[in-house]
Amino acid sequence: MKIAMVGSGYVGLVSGACFADFGHDVVCIDKDQSKIDALHAGIMPIYEPGLDALVESNVKSGRLSFSTDLASAIQGASAIFIAVGTPSRRGDGHADLSFVHAVAREIGASLKNDAVIVTKSTVPVGTGDEVERILQDSATTAKFEVVSNPEFLREGAAIDDFKRPDRIVIGTESDFGQEVMREVYRPLYLNESPILFTSRRSAELIKYAANAFLATKITFINEMADLCEKVGADVQDVSRGIGMDGRIGAKFLHAGPGYGGSCFPKDTLALLKTAEDYESPVRIVEAVVKVNDSRKRAMGRKVIDALGGTEAARGKTVGMLGLTFKPNTDDMRDSPAIGVAQALQDAGVKVVAYDPEGMEQARPLLPDVHMVNDPYAAITGADAVALVTEWNEFRALDLDRVKELANAPILVDLRNVYDPAEVRAAGFEYVSIGRA
Ligand code: UDX
Repeated sequence: MKIAMVGSGYVGLVSGACFADFGHDVVCIDKDQSKIDALHAGIMPIYEPGLDALVESNVKSGRLSFSTDLASAIQGASAIFIAVGTPSRRGDGHADLSFVHAVAREIGASLKNDAVIVTKSTVPVGTGDEVERILQDSATTAKFEVVSNPEFLREGAAIDDFKRPDRIVIGTESDFGQEVMREVYRPLYLNESPILFTSRRSAELIKYAANAFLATKITFINEMADLCEKVGADVQDVSRGIGMDGRIGAKFLHAGPGYGGSCFPKDTLALLKTAEDYESPVRIVEAVVKVNDSRKRAMGRKVIDALGGTEAARGKTVGMLGLTFKPNTDDMRDSPAIGVAQALQDAGVKVVAYDPEGMEQARPLLPDVHMVNDPYAAITGADAVALVTEWNEFRALDLDRVKELANAPILVDLRNVYDPAEVRAAGFEYVSIGRA
């Protein structure tokens, strides 16, 4: 089957490469010539473990190609995916659908064969209806069906999530739409990955509801962590204790500095806007957004407290380990590290940071943070070390060396990576999340 993937960003590129790996004939399209040139040269526009090798092997086998020419690239494709960005619109938090609509118009202007048009971009409820209207108003005489097929890919684990999904959600009530989509996902169907067919609107809402629910779970455990600190309980035990209840589930109950990334912050805001438009408030999600927003700077204040409070902190230096919103990505979007660093700098604290992949993206966002190329360089001379992202290389720091290089043995672990007893036995003052 021939598949066209419009948009060669994170979702488009991972999905396109995986579809090609399933044996489909895939062309990834992007209007950014430099991105397509780079892909032709084997250079990935994003950091995602395993993606370069997957792209390379499928390009070699002739199943994966790249193009800037949408009009010719979509010819003969039975499924045309729209995987362009839907950023938060400046000012109001609504998802900006201008790229999705523009692609729909372009497809309508050049579609010649029968095809299913699939929105993979995260789009508010009703977007499929609008895409359908745009195509109906276009010049095409081909038979088409607009289908919603949201993605649930985690950065850093995207290929595995794509190939071994918990479920595939397909929003279409038409036989033609279902038949083509079954063929698209046939390799996974044979694998017995569950495929859930729903209405288009339900599929669109499932994506937002899933992300909002996960963001709620994280925020819930973060507030429990704060309470644990006050009452003298341990949030790791509380997480385990509630997570063993099958109705609750153990995942996404890891307390930390708040969620960030390209999806949760943007999608929770967009859901609030949809709820507002339909006059059906989602108050829990409203609270989640507020609590998470204020948590990031609060984590900076936690580090200031460890330095002995505002007065004592002024003029001191913090060595920050990790900048990205989570490990195994170079993505800095809405990373808690930004709020932590800014709160520290606002209090007159100097920040020296190291991140294995994120420093290039972090530089423009945190111009006053001094970036260094090694974790121990960030620690050298620091009055406190703050572990902000749980990269593997920070999990087994040589604590004796840390103590030797740092100005003072203070470790603030915002990801609960270390065992408090062990770190304290090594002579550190140790502060973590939700552990008294
Ligand atoms: C998320 C969803 O998981 C994915 O299904 C969706 O399609 C896109 O958004 P991603 O943003 O890549 O994926 O990251 P994820 O691993 O879900 O983590 C999101 C944020 O939550 C990170 O900042 C992470 O540190 C934080 N988090 C996650 C916690 O603080 N605690 C947890 O227990 C889990």
